[in-house]
Amino acid sequence: MVVSPVALDPAATSTDLSNADVVALDRKNVFHSWSAQKSLNPMAIAGGSGSTVWDHDGNTYLDFSSQLVNTNIGHQHPKVIAAIARQATSLATVAPAAANHVRATAAAKILSHAPANMEKVFFTNGGADANENAIRMARLHTGRDKVLSRYRSYHGNTGSAIAATGDWRRIPNEYSRGHVHVFGPYLYRSEFWAETPEQETERALHHLRRVIQAEGPQSIAAILLETVPGTAGILVPTPGYLEGVRALCDEYGIVMILDEVMAGFGRTGDWFAFDAFNITPDLITFAKGVNSGYVPVGGVIISGEISATFDERVFPGGLTYSGHPIAAASIVASIDAFEEEDIIGNAARIGRDHLEPGLTALAAKHNVIGEVRGRGVFWALELVQDRTTRTPVSADYMGRLKVEILRLGLLPFLADNRIHVVPPAVVTPEEVAQALRIYDQALTTVTM
Ligand SMILES: Cc1ncc(COP(=O)(O)O)c(C=O)c1O
Repeated sequence: MVVSPVALDPAATSTDLSNADVVALDRKNVFHSWSAQKSLNPMAIAGGSGSTVWDHDGNTYLDFSSQLVNTNIGHQHPKVIAAIARQATSLATVAPAAANHVRATAAAKILSHAPANMEKVFFTNGGADANENAIRMARLHTGRDKVLSRYRSYHGNTGSAIAATGDWRRIPNEYSRGHVHVFGPYLYRSEFWAETPEQETERALHHLRRVIQAEGPQSIAAILLETVPGTAGILVPTPGYLEGVRALCDEYGIVMILDEVMAGFGRTGDWFAFDAFNITPDLITFAKGVNSGYVPVGGVIISGEISATFDERVFPGGLTYSGHPIAAASIVASIDAFEEEDIIGNAARIGRDHLEPGLTALAAKHNVIGEVRGRGVFWALELVQDRTTRTPVSADYMGRLKVEILRLGLLPFLADNRIHVVPPAVVTPEEVAQALRIYDQALTTVTM
């Protein structure tokens, strides 16, 4: 690809450029994640506002991906942008060892929405290193080594986080030791021959108990679970499962880490996804929705008990940008806006009154939809060739579907044989109605 002179002009504005200019510059210089590089043809995105993004050629799209399921507050929320600008003007960086007002306020704001047993926040640069440090804390707190997590999971792209991940991304990266995987509840494709949610819960918990016993409970530091596995398919746990995991952790002295990186901060229509269940974890990891990714940040919310382990003993972990002031300012402004504008309530209402009935109606019309599941602004449509066999649709079908949905003006999130319907938590009923029309039309036009 030839890079045009305008793309190299530092004064060029987004309207001076075309999509082709930006894609050519990208392909010449940028190495992309999770991809073979040669055949990539990324979409150019020039700007965004709320639930909409646009490119350089005048096309706008409803963003029902929330990028990587992180823009919970929508694009360019004015209060968050203003807070970032203010903080950049007053103090753009500060060492993690300093006491800093905006960092301490961000931690206090996060803790104000966490369960009462949570006492401290350790800030990281994103979700992977949040899980990395939660695992480190659990290992040091228990003096044990192993970490149990699920095959259907994604926990991030660093040493222990990628080894804890279950999906294909773990396999070329398994350098970290002591990771064991289990199957969790997923009734639509039950690993346990279950026919009811109760059976799925009971058998998944039996399987987990047997793995704990077979691995040796005294060797297990933590069970790390996404409260609602996200990339793996938006698998809302069957009733009683998380409570059963909590009971097993208590029985065997295992730390319960809930990964709320994707599910937390409004995605499910709650502050934390586990708020809908009757449990309290020991460690909570967060990133994405805490500030919608306007500035990279993540962290671990730490129970009083685990935090006390490090009262006298050194915690052997840290990051130059831990609690970065611009990230902290964006967290404070984002949580304030969530509270002032009832953004969590909006996500819950959108889920209950618009997405659930709308997606269920789509499934009634299109046989290709095998299951609709989710809550809040966190939904999956599982697409199948046949509702009886539940055989997933092909990658070729998904590719054609993506092209058609984009052509109709919606930026979708597709994973394996699923459409993840994951708009920002600020999405309006009108935008949901428009998205439903687009999915409907695409599912009508694109045939198997
Ligand atoms: C549940 C979950 N945990 C951890 C991560 C990793 O976060 P990051 O990409 O910020 O490192 C992700 C990212 O998608 C995620 O979905």
